[in-house]
Amino acid sequence: MFRATIFTLMPDMFPGPLGASLSGDALARGLWSLEARNIRDHGLGRHRAVDDTPAGGGPGMVIRADVLAAALDAGVATDDSRPRLLMSPRGRPLTQSRVRELASGPGAIIVCGRFEGVDERVIEARGLEEVSIGDYVLSGGELAAMVLVDACVRLIPGVMGKTESGSEESFEANLLEYPQFTRPREWEGRAIPEVLVSGDHAKIARWRREEAERITRERRPDLLRRD
Ligand code: ADE
Repeated sequence: MFRATIFTLMPDMFPGPLGASLSGDALARGLWSLEARNIRDHGLGRHRAVDDTPAGGGPGMVIRADVLAAALDAGVATDDSRPRLLMSPRGRPLTQSRVRELASGPGAIIVCGRFEGVDERVIEARGLEEVSIGDYVLSGGELAAMVLVDACVRLIPGVMGKTESGSEESFEANLLEYPQFTRPREWEGRAIPEVLVSGDHAKIARWRREEAERITRERRPDLLRRD
């Protein structure tokens, strides 16, 4: 089973949106599991301090290596083979192929950063792989972790209604999705493209492929050059 263990300073944010809709139903059905662990449980002193000022000066606070390591060592068995991820805008950008890889494995251990960052030594010492969900900065890794888990969970067998419903969607062939239409056949003077109501399945498949290529060329030419 896909198991997600989240290390965070905001455990109350979980399951959050992961408890609703598709992922929430799958969670309730036992198709995956979620555990949020509070890094502060391993904080130091009366105030359970988890962070300190950056060595060398500068703004913000840095999560201490000793505190995060203590949290990880207490919460993860030594023989746990799950990848250890650190959500960070500095990480390698998350892709659908990495999501597929993660979804087919035993799950993920996910550390959510806050403040200015995490002491580099714990990233190295505990083999954390930094993962970004895009070139923008969030106030913490929690939302990024939810994005990653959501993307994985929907690919777990039995989570989506139809097993094939993921195979034609955006990114599956480095293409964005073709346009979709449904009833009514005409709306505000706009008709559904004639080919889609023609009943000619070969023609429909060709049209969809061409539209997917056109949209990808216009919006994401970088995808066509990938892999
Ligand atoms: N934490 C803050 N910003 C992030 C991002 N873009 N991706 C992953 N984690 C983050």
